[in-house]
Amino acid sequence: MKALMLKVNQDFQNRFGENAAFVVRAPGRVNLIGEHTDYNDGFVLPLAIDRAIWIALRPRPDREVHIHSLDFDETAVFHLDSLFKETTRRANHWLEYLKGVAWALQEDGYTLAGWEGVMAGDIPKGAGLSSSAALELATARTFTAVTNQLWDPVAMALLCQKAENQWVGVNCGIMDQMISAAGQAGHALLIDCRTLETKAVPLPMGTAVVVLDTNTRRGLVDSAYNERRAQCDEASRFFGVPYLRDVSITDFLSSEDQLAPLIRQRARHVVTENIRVLNAVTAMLNGDAEMLGTLMNQSHLSLRDDFEVSSYELNVMVELAQAQPGCFGARMTGAGFGGCAVALVAAETSSTFTQFIATAYEQATGLTPAIYVCQPAAGASVIRNS
Ligand code: GLA
Repeated sequence: MKALMLKVNQDFQNRFGENAAFVVRAPGRVNLIGEHTDYNDGFVLPLAIDRAIWIALRPRPDREVHIHSLDFDETAVFHLDSLFKETTRRANHWLEYLKGVAWALQEDGYTLAGWEGVMAGDIPKGAGLSSSAALELATARTFTAVTNQLWDPVAMALLCQKAENQWVGVNCGIMDQMISAAGQAGHALLIDCRTLETKAVPLPMGTAVVVLDTNTRRGLVDSAYNERRAQCDEASRFFGVPYLRDVSITDFLSSEDQLAPLIRQRARHVVTENIRVLNAVTAMLNGDAEMLGTLMNQSHLSLRDDFEVSSYELNVMVELAQAQPGCFGARMTGAGFGGCAVALVAAETSSTFTQFIATAYEQATGLTPAIYVCQPAAGASVIRNS
């Protein structure tokens, strides 16, 4: 993390001949529990990880943004007044995230100003660790720093989500932007996706969170994601409520047999997952790592069998993790179909755990995983250099 800060600062100095005025960072995330609940107005419990996007920058006197990406070795420019005229907003290029955020902030009435800088990150792209949300929040943090405006994490998360939904064209919920904006060091964050109230919850003493990247990336995630959203909407219409958040387990059990089998499965996942998130918070507050792990294991089964968003490789990874001494629980994390699993392990076993899993997963699948022991980090932040 420090290394990246030095890297963007150094590159800024080389390019512009002076120190950057600001250095901004925004983190990626891993979700401990509460999957596919955010767009059902439910509960999630993610943590910001110690991997982030960093931008070193200085204001410009005009209304242009000049940004060099060290990761893509590419410089790009856009004008803050040209964003309303664009006709094709969807383009699979990193610059669209910055433009989308500038567009959303201005649409909401923010007065922005130009800047120039250098960015770099260490969140693997497409792995389900929210590198896109981190780039959006880093951009929002940059604009507020340049114009000296107060940082309102919830408002910024909502505008970044709007950028992702309407500019980039990905129909995500609010979880990723909220945790990148509002994460708390050393804590997971309970987010009520209806009220956007948050509560920081410490990890049980002596535990470590391990991210297990299967190294599989699936196409069609977007269409499967949109299909799940539509099925959840169908279930909430059946129950006569705005969102599945409003369906209690008693309501669900009393009329589940009138639901089509597939819609019943999808609803059962969401209704029970919301309960698991709240129980996970209680377990964490009691320092009960065993209970938290059990809930994570249950969440995985629900995602695998009822919501059907897991994959062969994710199941292999989760089962290997769960079988290890010192592992309290494990599950797939994020949208699913590929990407990462997350495990809660006894901190003192984390290095033997990661070594064992790396070998065993490779033997089972022929794929080399990437494994990270994560420290829960703070949300988007800015350092003023001058
Ligand atoms: C993706 C989306 C989130 C959330 C998760 C599933 O990460 O961006 O909004 O819906 O999938 O929990």
